[in-house]
Amino acid sequence: MAKDLSAPVGVMDSGLGGVSVLLELVRLLPHEHFIYYGDSAYAPYGDRDPETIKTRALFCAKQLYDSGAKALVVACNTATGVAIKDIRETFSDIPVIGIEPAIKPASMQTDSPRVVVMATPVTLRQGKFQELIGRFTDRADIIPVPCRGLVELIEAGILEGPELEKAVSDCLFPVLSPVPDSIVLGCTHYPLIKETIGKAVFDLCGRHVPLLDGGEGTARQTMRLLDQNGLLNPGPEEGRILWRTSARDGTEDRYKAFFARRRKETA
Ligand code: DGL
Repeated sequence: MAKDLSAPVGVMDSGLGGVSVLLELVRLLPHEHFIYYGDSAYAPYGDRDPETIKTRALFCAKQLYDSGAKALVVACNTATGVAIKDIRETFSDIPVIGIEPAIKPASMQTDSPRVVVMATPVTLRQGKFQELIGRFTDRADIIPVPCRGLVELIEAGILEGPELEKAVSDCLFPVLSPVPDSIVLGCTHYPLIKETIGKAVFDLCGRHVPLLDGGEGTARQTMRLLDQNGLLNPGPEEGRILWRTSARDGTEDRYKAFFARRRKETA
């Protein structure tokens, strides 16, 4: 059967976080159509038991697959860590792209860097994450930090202000001495509050520390896989985005409005 190149690329997350990856995807692939599924009724995933996360991640992937997605981007470090293998096995006829914390680029930046990794508790407990850090411990000092509470605030629409600043400072305070060479944002919600994280780090240690995330790398990998599978939409029309959520009506409008605001700010 001929491939439908104008079919959308599905992008999923536990909620709003995957929008940080979608921004990179749209920048790199302006002719692709996307369909975004945020599981905000079940967010945050980061403290849930792995079986529930797996069930939810497979449910989200099915919504996108049944909507005709030609590829799936799991824009969630937690769901990737727990369920990427199951998603790939279940939807084996389309490319499935996961995301992982940007530990590789952070470890390569200088000689023996000190790298702080912010992520959800579940991500840090996964064998996949242990394997990833194991590949770089001989060249970098890697300090994982489970960041409880941040995703709850972001899902509640708190993307700046004193409450968020305090929550970020409480997570990072114990790991900023000595000052790290970089901080990896190992949850796709965190790039959405990059300014607050940067400010908290500067206030706590008096230095600007590079913040790295996996969004751009994931977008590049998506482009590579679409290309290899002959699935790139040649255009010329500009791609559209469909928004879906498991949460109450109106949540998808929040994703959409936030996407539009961020896109304008970073244009
Ligand atoms: N945005 C997700 C991640 O990248 C999940 C956060 C959560 O739901 O706890 O890990």
